[in-house]
Amino acid sequence: VLADYGISPTHGFLPEVLPLTRLPDPYYNKWEAIVANLPALILSKRLRGVVDRLPVLSTIGLEHDAEWRRAYSLLSFMAHGYIWGGDSPSDRLPPSITVPLLKVSQHLEVPPVATYAALCLWNFKPLFMDEDIDNLENLATLNTFTGSIDESWFYLVSVAMEARGAPIMQLGLTAIAAARQNDAATVTRCLGTFAERVDDLTTLLQRMHESCDPTIFYNRIRPFLAGSKNMAEAGLPNGVVYEDGSGTETYRQYAGGSNAQSSLIQFFDIVLGVEHRPTGEKRGRPDQQEPREGRPPAPKHNFLMEMRRYMPGPHARFLGDVQAVANIREFVEANRDHRPLCIAYDACLSMLRNLRDKHIAIVTRYIVVPSREVRARSRSRSPEVVRRKLDLATASRQPQGIAYDARGIAQKQQQDDKKNSNLKGTGGTALMSFLKQARDETGEPAVDEW
Ligand code: HEM
Ligand code: ALA
Repeated sequence: VLADYGISPTHGFLPEVLPLTRLPDPYYNKWEAIVANLPALILSKRLRGVVDRLPVLSTIGLEHDAEWRRAYSLLSFMAHGYIWGGDSPSDRLPPSITVPLLKVSQHLEVPPVATYAALCLWNFKPLFMDEDIDNLENLATLNTFTGSIDESWFYLVSVAMEARGAPIMQLGLTAIAAARQNDAATVTRCLGTFAERVDDLTTLLQRMHESCDPTIFYNRIRPFLAGSKNMAEAGLPNGVVYEDGSGTETYRQYAGGSNAQSSLIQFFDIVLGVEHRPTGEKRGRPDQQEPREGRPPAPKHNFLMEMRRYMPGPHARFLGDVQAVANIREFVEANRDHRPLCIAYDACLSMLRNLRDKHIAIVTRYIVVPSREVRARSRSRSPEVVRRKLDLATASRQPQGIAYDARGIAQKQQQDDKKNSNLKGTGGTALMSFLKQARDETGEPAVDEW
């Protein structure tokens, strides 16, 4: 049953017991005080000093899982604030963070970084206890890096989607059980509602635009979500050392926080039999790495599978177990003459594909466009461009000088374009090609083509 996987029938992957707004044991007041002031401490660049002076607290005072989750969220915010909240990133985390963080993440079966669970699943409260949490108007965040409404909204849209998505899980599981019984009528009914609910989620997703400003997101919020893997360009070539006082620590590398760590969307794929291949791999041509001396070929890196390791352990196990019994796609294929069934199944795929389409539009507006603006701004201030503008304004220099500068500008533009194709998601993907492939794969198993 769901509870065995830490899943709530009403809240889905959000905890059944609401996140604690603070740790009850006053022993942890120092953590609470730091995170309550996080935006100010980051703004004044005093967070690192404060954390360096913080004693190493024990996890002994943590009792219920809700307390462990609160501790994890607090420590993750401190860790990412510490790494990214200075003029240049810190490639070390002090023992006051790492010692308890490593314990807490082991207990909760999550990596010791700011995951989707730390930032979204375990970081909200309802404004009114007697109202539902699937309503954005009834949600607030507990912690943020910036104190901005934009950051709160960014997390809360996900929280509301998780809550609104919770009933879809039951529909999916019921459909799987009905397919096993060969009960096409029930499968059809479940899939029909499934499709409508996924469409509701898309409506919620698009509310991102209401209160999260793309420029603020890109320049102020997103840097704190970054990980320590493939982050050489951002100033972390080796990753981050989690100092524990032993003197034997080595660099660690983790992906940054990303909604790709949401178990809900992966659950939809699993129920519907949507398969995602490693980025760049074409359908029907499993692309494996060269086999090495007798060992079986290792499957190529699959980002969405990797992201399961960033989900709370029980949630990831749930996905694996559902995958083992998922049968809807086969059932629909075996009942191609059942028109209502095929229509309902195809509706699910279309709605999921549409969700991914709308998400890609968000990524364009929140990452691609602002990144271009940042580069254009730095280009227009580059010496080549300023000189050229001056030439044109004063017409005082020789034409060959202008030609030379124009070449410089073209070169710079080329470099910039290359950077654009290097644009990475906080999870570490080459975002657009990855997201478009994930979307295209969502359409593939369509059975009802006319
Ligand atoms: C993946 C950006 C909001 C769901 C990604 C990726 C990026 C991205 C760049 C690629 C993976 C990576 O490298 O991180 C954004 C931006 C958002 C946003 C800029 C808002 C400003 C959301 C929300 C959801 C969501 C609210 C809620 C469902 C996903 C999923 C993936 C993903 C499921 C994995 C790819 C897939 O399954 O198609 N996102 N995201 N994102 N995002 Fe978002
Ligand atoms: N994964 C999102 C990004 O890359 C948050 O910005």
